[in-house]
Amino acid sequence: MSDASNRAKQYYELLNLYGDYVRTGFRSAHAAPVLKKPDDTAARKGALEKLGAEVRACTRCDLCHNRLKAVPGEGTLDPLVMVVGEAPGADEDETGRPFVGAAGQYLDKWLQAIHVTRRTNAYIANVIKCRPPQNRDPRPEETGACLPYLTRQVELLRPRFILVVGRVAAQVLLREERGIGALRGGTYRFQDVPLVPTYHPSAVLRDQSLRARVWDDLKRLKSLFEHA
Ligand code: URA
Repeated sequence: MSDASNRAKQYYELLNLYGDYVRTGFRSAHAAPVLKKPDDTAARKGALEKLGAEVRACTRCDLCHNRLKAVPGEGTLDPLVMVVGEAPGADEDETGRPFVGAAGQYLDKWLQAIHVTRRTNAYIANVIKCRPPQNRDPRPEETGACLPYLTRQVELLRPRFILVVGRVAAQVLLREERGIGALRGGTYRFQDVPLVPTYHPSAVLRDQSLRARVWDDLKRLKSLFEHA
């Protein structure tokens, strides 16, 4: 029996129509049922909360010694867009929430412009979950220790798209050495999720001439999800 006939026979068995099959062969009137994926939303939500607790208690690198609060991330499950930044700053370290300072408020405006919010259809996280002293660049051993948390978040959240902001995060996720000016403009993949890089909101607050390029990147992201 061919693969197709075998599959059809399995569907008929599933439908308790195997008797029909034996009597009359396959009948096109009986459409093959769509086999639904099990709804694992509650399990993923639980696993994400457990992961958050693990991050808050993490001692995998030296950044744990000086942090006030680790910052796992926040937003919705199955987000349209997952935003990935570099690391918490002072405001995030104090509150335990990602992107809540000036850069975060600016980021929220960017997202609103393409109808994305952390309350409805976004998840916001960082490559590094604890604040580096004086906001210095994270060290390779710190990104190495922390990246598995982000990898797991992507697995559990299943974002449709990733927007990565800033050089450091883009270089870590893409395993690239080029700067953000060279990386932006392209669409890449991280764990098979389409990824769009752009400048970090702090950089744009410092240099407003970057605004037009960020807007181009956001429009491209919007067009990707509108045509997906
Ligand atoms: N900058 C980041 O990259 N992440 C934050 O959460 C805040 C500022």
